[in-house]
Parts: sequence; structure tokens; C-alpha cells
Amino acid sequence: MAYENIVYEVKEGIATITFNRPKALNALNGALLAELSQALDVIAADEDIRVLILTGAGDKSFVAGADISELATFDSLKAKAFALKGHGIINKLQQLPIAVIAAVNGFALGGGTEISIACDFIYASENAKFGQPEINLGVIPGFGGTQRLPRLIGTNMAKELIYTGKMISAAEALQLGLANNVVPHDSLMDEVMKTAEVIASKGKVSLREAKQAVNKGMDVDLASGCGIEIDAFALCYASPDAKEGTSAFLDKRQAEFKGGLSV
Ligand code: CAA
Repeated sequence: MAYENIVYEVKEGIATITFNRPKALNALNGALLAELSQALDVIAADEDIRVLILTGAGDKSFVAGADISELATFDSLKAKAFALKGHGIINKLQQLPIAVIAAVNGFALGGGTEISIACDFIYASENAKFGQPEINLGVIPGFGGTQRLPRLIGTNMAKELIYTGKMISAAEALQLGLANNVVPHDSLMDEVMKTAEVIASKGKVSLREAKQAVNKGMDVDLASGCGIEIDAFALCYASPDAKEGTSAFLDKRQAEFKGGLSV
């Protein structure tokens, strides 16, 4: 389909979604969310895609949050429908069976921070700014910020950000463990692409199982998490990639992983 509010590209197993409303700092309106949801369905169904990168169009912003002109029209019922829709899309993003990297190129506020922390990890440009400013609008985060942020950076730090609505710099995000890496603005996509290419060279099933073991394990106690890992480890052997990887090591050659997700 033709997208108007995002740009969707795929190259050699690496998909990129660029939020594309630069005049509104890539704020999430209903049309953009619908296109994002559709693109995620396309990606989930594509066996050849191994990595997804999310970024924002323009020099200034990743995503400046939900579109405030739409929020201004809500009553409680519309607000609930909007939050349900947002959670559905962000859960879909988090559950994609491939690696997802947020390339945060500027403001990642409100829904922007919430999207970035549902990705597997974040690379930020030196210009990036994170925050949950919803309190300044008389509301609270509605796309998972009160739940994922404390799990990522700890309860007290998350509460301070959510209660004050203040923005933090890329350097502070790095220090908090919110971003994995901070790089010069102009080299952000190159650095993200280098890591994406490394990941895309790995086995699809082992990547999926690694991701699911970490994600599912974070929601349960250690013993249950270790049980999840044991099953995930075993499932890797249902893919030809496990035979290929171990044989390649013993043959002293580079592994070529070709297994699909049908395992
Ligand atoms: N919604 C709609 N429009 C937005 C927007 C948003 N979230 N953020 C920025 N814009 C628009 C501005 O209205 C402005 O439009 P015009 O040129 O037509 O006036 C344009 O983008 C540029 O913005 P600014 O002139 O404000 O740019 P700035 O550099 O001075 O400030 C900013 C940048 C600090 C990010 C500021 O725009 C800002 O504070 N934006 C709102 C951020 C915010 O509160 N986000 C949370 C939204 S609520 C949410 O996300 C709920 C949830 O959990 C899902």
C-alpha cells in the first residue's frame, strides 16, 4: 500500500520505518498509527526481514508524542479507545519476531519515548531528547510509559520523569541505560545500519528465540524464565541454522544462516 505518514523501505533483510510528519515533529495522529500498524503486519508476514529500524523524518524529531490537536478533542471514552489502540500497536511492535532498533534522531517525547522503549534497544543521536511530558497536558503516559519505563530505568527515576515531565538529554539517557549508544547526529543511521547488518547475518530462529526468551523471561520469576530459555534453546535445533552454525565453526568457515521462521 502507499503510505503518506510513514516511509517504509526494505533492503537486504533490513526494514526501515521513518515517521514522516516533520512539520508536526512526527506527532502520532490516527492516520500515522493506522499506517504503522499496517506496516508492522506486512513486516511480521515477511520471512526475509530480520531487522526493523524506526526513525523520524527531518533533523529535529523522532516522534514528539501523540498529536495534541487530536488529544484535545477526547472525552474519557475516546481517550480509552485511543490508549487501547496505541497499546495494541506497541505490543505488536514489541512482539515482532525480529530485532527492532530505535534510531532516535531528535525529540522522543511521550508516545515517542514509549515507542522507542518498546524496541529491542535504542541508538540515539547527540541531539536526542527523551521525556514523558504528558503531565504538562494534565494527563499521563498512555502508550505504556508508566509500565515499560520503570522496568527499564527503575521505578524512582521513571516516576521523577513522569511526575516532572522534564526532558533528558541523550547523554543522560545513556547513563540511565535508556539508550545503548549515543553517536554524532550525522552518523546515526550509519551506526545503526552497521549493527543491523551484524544482526541480519544471524539465524532468524535463534534471533526470534533469543528475543522471546528475554522478553517473556522479564515478566516471570527467575526459575520460570530459565524454563523459557531451556525450551527456546531446544527449539533452535528444529532449524537447520543450528546444524549450519556448529558445522561452520568446526569446518573453520563463515556460517550461512538460511533457516526460516516456519520452525
Ligand atoms: N502534537 C501535535 N503537534 C505537535 C506536537 C504534538 N505532540 N509536537 C509538536 N507539534 C507541532 C507544533 O504544534 C508546531 O506546529 P506549528 O508549526 O504548526 O505551530 C510544530 O510541531 C513545531 O513544534 P514547535 O514550534 O513547538 O517546536 P519547538 O522546537 O519550539 O519545540 C517541542 C519542540 C519541545 C517538542 C514542542 O513541540 C513540544 O513540547 N511538543 C509537545 C510534546 C508533548 O507534549 N508530547 C506528548 C504528547 S501526549 C502523548 O504522547 C500521550 C501518549 O502517551 C501517547
